[in-house]
Amino acid sequence: MVMPRMSIRGLLLLMLILSRLTACTTGPLMDSSRFGGAAHGMTFAEVIGPILSRACLECHGGESLESGLDLSSVPDLMKGGESGPAVVPGNPGASLLYQLIEEETMPPEGEPLSAADRGLIEAWIKAGANP
Ligand code: HEC
Repeated sequence: MVMPRMSIRGLLLLMLILSRLTACTTGPLMDSSRFGGAAHGMTFAEVIGPILSRACLECHGGESLESGLDLSSVPDLMKGGESGPAVVPGNPGASLLYQLIEEETMPPEGEPLSAADRGLIEAWIKAGANP
């Protein structure tokens, strides 16, 4: 029997992303307050920090803090910049960080974040923005 050829790595990556997204959006049984952030595999330390580090810290970390905004830790995100907190836990739509990546205002140059990365950030905020 001839099997269609497909990239196993691509498939595994897709499944990983999908399972993370659904794990964090499927109703009260998977509520973050019940299992905590680590159970989701959706912590800032493991999932979100590396995305922001790659795409944002050049201008929002260390010496360079555009708009006074540091994106290198969850307390810094909560403190936010000149316009106030960058993230409202549980509410991606009200989170300036999410709004600006969704409308592709941030990052202001280079590639916009991938749909997968945006989805991870949305799910992470929805689940309570766990450190
Ligand atoms: C090349 C530099 C650069 C990069 C990279 C960058 N930003 Fe910005 N960011 C800016 C500048 C400049 C401003 C101020 C814009 C303004 O005031 O009009 C800003 C403002 C912001 C603000 C508003 C802060 C406030 O309180 O007013 C947020 C939120 C933000 N950026 C998020 C991000 C995110 C998330 C990323 C990564 C996906 C990112 N930025 C990547 C330069 C950058």
